[in-house]
Amino acid sequence: MKSLTLLGSTGSIGTSTLDVVRHNPTLYRVYALAAGHNVEAIFQQIIEFRPDIAILATSAGVARLAAALSEYGLPRPNWPELAFGGAALVDVATSPAADMVISAIVGVTGLEATYEAVRLGKRVGLANKEVLVSGGRLVMDAVKQSGAELLPIDSEHNGVHQCLRAGNRDQVARLILTASGGPFRNTPKHAMASVTPAEALNHPTWRMGKRITIDCATLMNKGFEVIEACWLFGFAPSQVDVVIHPQSTVHAMIEYSDGSVLAQISATDMRMPIQYALTWPERWQAPVPKIDWTQARHWDFAPPDFDRFPLLKLAYQCQQAGGSATCTLNAADEIAVAAFLNGEIGFPGIAAVVEETLSRIPGRQAHTVADILDIDKESRSTAGAIVRQLAGLETAAARPVPARV
Ligand SMILES: NC(=O)c1ccc[n+]([C@@H]2O[C@H](COP(=O)([O-])OP(=O)(O)OC[C@H]3O[C@@H](n4cnc5c(N)ncnc54)[C@H](OP(=O)(O)O)[C@@H]3O)[C@@H](O)[C@H]2O)c1
Repeated sequence: MKSLTLLGSTGSIGTSTLDVVRHNPTLYRVYALAAGHNVEAIFQQIIEFRPDIAILATSAGVARLAAALSEYGLPRPNWPELAFGGAALVDVATSPAADMVISAIVGVTGLEATYEAVRLGKRVGLANKEVLVSGGRLVMDAVKQSGAELLPIDSEHNGVHQCLRAGNRDQVARLILTASGGPFRNTPKHAMASVTPAEALNHPTWRMGKRITIDCATLMNKGFEVIEACWLFGFAPSQVDVVIHPQSTVHAMIEYSDGSVLAQISATDMRMPIQYALTWPERWQAPVPKIDWTQARHWDFAPPDFDRFPLLKLAYQCQQAGGSATCTLNAADEIAVAAFLNGEIGFPGIAAVVEETLSRIPGRQAHTVADILDIDKESRSTAGAIVRQLAGLETAAARPVPARV
């Protein structure tokens, strides 16, 4: 049996990954689980999957986890080794004891461990798209040098990976990524200013973490996916199209040079691409619903509206510009999304903060993970300052105008 390091075990992708492992008990043994702050969830996972190592973001989290294991009465020799922080993430991602690493931490926190696993030539299942959005060149250079297998878990890229098995890379004319369009697919531009975080978190087809759900509502997520696809499959942004497909059942398509289009179709369930990455190049029975072809169904496809969703356009521009622009795009978006969720800025403010941050941070080349983290930090700090400015303006605008005497 192979062994698995799961980075981001308590999140949406992490729990779905463990469900795949649960349904295929001969597939993988869990070597390491890593999470941020959710002590209760990782405690339950330890009891069920008995990893060798469990990691949390802070020492305080580890202390609470130790207390929970003690209270539960798990004998000390059966405890996993407990650790915290970034160095521990790198250790479990690069350990000879791990045959495969699933990278499913949200944000750039997962970058270094993923990069080091790739550098060592490990098989890596990549959900964390920020790794390629922020450090695409560095990570893909490492893939080329080490021969690591980087298997996409994002459903669209997983779909592309599957469709590419049908032909040679040089026979591919374009990639087509589908997007549900999010909850505001039909919302007029003027009404976007008043949408609430609760409305934006109500994704029509997928249940995911908060950051990616808001990114779906702005189509920033689709922009990140365009960037991710360029890096993963070696295409220019102009060769990657986005198509709105509200049913989220066709995940991706490939147009070959003869005009033939292949599509990857499956139920809206992340356990399918996760299992594909875990079993590649084999296919196993997956614990996901199958499409019922006895039912009539209707699938729609429409072009995206770049005017109402400016972050999608910005993603194309940043990937075309190269250098650190996409790293700044990701960092600024993370700050802006958090500010929107905190009620500091309105929904259109997310794009405004990202655009303004990009105009203030000069682009440059990043040669190391440290360079990328520096650019990320600088971009966050600038985006934070812009949020405060914008929040002040928005509060002032919302204040009742004093009545004229
Ligand atoms: N969800 C999807 O369907 C989906 C689809 C495609 C791609 N993705 C990508 O996959 C990644 C994860 O998405 P998600 O939806 O699963 O997010 P999520 O539900 O918010 O989970 C994020 C995970 O990261 C962990 N984490 C956060 N900070 C950490 C830290 N400092 N150290 C270690 N772990 C930390 C969290 O731990 P705690 O919860 O314990 O704090 C949690 O396990 C994102 O990059 C997303 O864009 C997700």
